[in-house]
Amino acid sequence: MGHSKEDMQQFESSSIVSGPKGLNVSIPGDKSISHRSMIFGLLSRGTTTVKGLLEGDDILATAEACRKLGAKIIRRDDGVWEVTGVGVGCLSTPHSALDFGNAGTGSRLMMGVVAGHPITATFDGDASLRSRPMKRVLDPLMEMGASVEFEIDDRLPCKLSGTLNPMPKSFKQKKASAQVKSAILLAALNTPGEVTYIEPIPTRDHTENMMRGFGANITVTPLEGEEGQQGGNKIVVTGEKQLTAQDIQVPSDPSSSAFIIAAALIVPDSDIIIENVLMNETRIGVITTWLEMGANIEIMNERLSGGEKIADLRVQYSELKGVSVPAERAASMIDEYPILAMTAAYATGKTHMQELDELRVKESDRLSAVYNGLIANGVKAEIIGDDLIVHGGAVQGGGIVETHLDHRIAMCFLILGLQAQTAVAIDDGTMIATSFPEFLDVMNAFGAKIKGI
Ligand code: S3P
Repeated sequence: MGHSKEDMQQFESSSIVSGPKGLNVSIPGDKSISHRSMIFGLLSRGTTTVKGLLEGDDILATAEACRKLGAKIIRRDDGVWEVTGVGVGCLSTPHSALDFGNAGTGSRLMMGVVAGHPITATFDGDASLRSRPMKRVLDPLMEMGASVEFEIDDRLPCKLSGTLNPMPKSFKQKKASAQVKSAILLAALNTPGEVTYIEPIPTRDHTENMMRGFGANITVTPLEGEEGQQGGNKIVVTGEKQLTAQDIQVPSDPSSSAFIIAAALIVPDSDIIIENVLMNETRIGVITTWLEMGANIEIMNERLSGGEKIADLRVQYSELKGVSVPAERAASMIDEYPILAMTAAYATGKTHMQELDELRVKESDRLSAVYNGLIANGVKAEIIGDDLIVHGGAVQGGGIVETHLDHRIAMCFLILGLQAQTAVAIDDGTMIATSFPEFLDVMNAFGAKIKGI
């Protein structure tokens, strides 16, 4: 899944006078839950059905990897996906490399799956994924008995050999990462005994929720005393329990919704409704932050769907003011800092986002990419240590933003262009298809002026 210069496509986004009134927007399925739907489908007996799956390139790569490990996966004519799994302990050895393209989540979660089985698989990906650190996931998996060979230290491609008897072990969170946690918990599914993961800073909990739904032996207990101050948990999985296929309804992705929320917040007269948005507490730190900035976001019809909280969001144009975003909130909005920074550029005063070191190891170094893109478009910004400070005001625009194979950098700067004095251009919009293939259609319905150049 290479991505050469010839595959790149530039886009530019120009200012619009007013936003839509009464537009109903539907956003594709949540990326995190979509990856996990494929993986849990593979690991259970029977046929799992998935409605509302995100049909982005990242998920298609994970689905292909699941097929190579033994699952039968089809997309029915009605858009529902069927995953017929093999069950925990029964994976096949793949005959060719598992190529995850741009997908960090797919690759890292699948490392946990493979580590807990006596099979060997080669993991690979595009230039972005090949540059991302894998040690954080592989170190605990090696402690459980897996082994790994790299061509270049800690970077893909690598050959991972799992083990027949993954060791029951206890781990404590080193990085606030749901991918690391999930890899360990997935390896635990085939462990003869208990695996414990202590997580003082809570991260997205979709793996735990799905384990419960598919019938795994899992307990999640709130941590007590000083360790529990940030609302974290002790998670225990007892392995070797068969999982049973389920019917899954994937809610709309709050991270993709954030781009459209931002568009409505910055374009005068906008008044839109986004339906069925996942409102899991571990995912909506950016909504809390926008509300603190004075955003007019109304959370309507809160309800449960497939064990997850969802709601409809009414978003209206708002005059935002800068705020300070505490470091403790980072895990619950880790993918939303780039789009928050775009709205901060239109706010009055400065927005201070604290301790963003993890942004440096996403699909790109997002801290630098956001900073450079803002500067290129005449926005005053500073990086101090790992903090990002954005000074709000009018946005000049006129810059070409380097997106570094990063879908979220591409989308957020197209949003920045919606009110800039001169159009904002991005060097490549093709990666948007990894997480939000309908982005340009949705923006079109919004009334945006985005065109290929
Ligand atoms: C994800 C976890 C986060 C997030 C990513 C999706 C997941 O990564 O950035 O987009 O689905 O588990 P980290 O676990 O590395 O923070």
